[in-house]
Amino acid sequence: MTATTVDTDFIHVFEPGSDPARRPLLLLHGTGGDERDLLSLGRTVAPGASLLSPRGKVLEGAAPRFFRRLAEGVFDEADLRQRTDELADFVLLARERYGLPAPIALGFSNGANIAAALLLQRPEILAGAALLRAMVPFAEPPRADLTGKPVLILSGALDPIVPKANAEALARQLGESGAAVEHRALPAGHGLGQADIGLLGDWLARN
Ligand code: MLT
Repeated sequence: MTATTVDTDFIHVFEPGSDPARRPLLLLHGTGGDERDLLSLGRTVAPGASLLSPRGKVLEGAAPRFFRRLAEGVFDEADLRQRTDELADFVLLARERYGLPAPIALGFSNGANIAAALLLQRPEILAGAALLRAMVPFAEPPRADLTGKPVLILSGALDPIVPKANAEALARQLGESGAAVEHRALPAGHGLGQADIGLLGDWLARN
């Protein structure tokens, strides 16, 4: 059984932005990361944007994550549903606390997977999402209306964790829900590289 928590706050960093034309970024780290991991990436790809960066509350050993998994790529979906609501409620709380419009999620790996879950389960929370090395979060995805929401998926053609077909299925699911999906498969593995940074920066400048 998964633990239930009603605490909607998260350990997090908030960096106020200097450019009000920029949407805030919700930075969601990968397994074993924390709230500081993606700050410099966020500053690089969205200069002037406010950055909101929570730390995942689930521990796998000592490694923070955003939801439980049963094995690599096999998710505890009951926990995922609960954690998705908890993170969604945190975003609402932080928007009120810091006076923010709906953010664009920038998630890597486990963080990208919960960002995809947010889109499907709580579509009102995000203005869009950049999903780096993401996979399909739900076996039976909730029906979401994502009409017009921009989504960038950057997958690695050589990624040992996310099979090509899985990244394609995620792009299809989000597209069928109405999202404006751009999916690029890079000649890369699970790690991020210079090509990700360039594509992310271009996409964020347009969205
Ligand atoms: C996950 O558990 O979300 C994925 O397997 C990616 C990872 O965190 O390794």
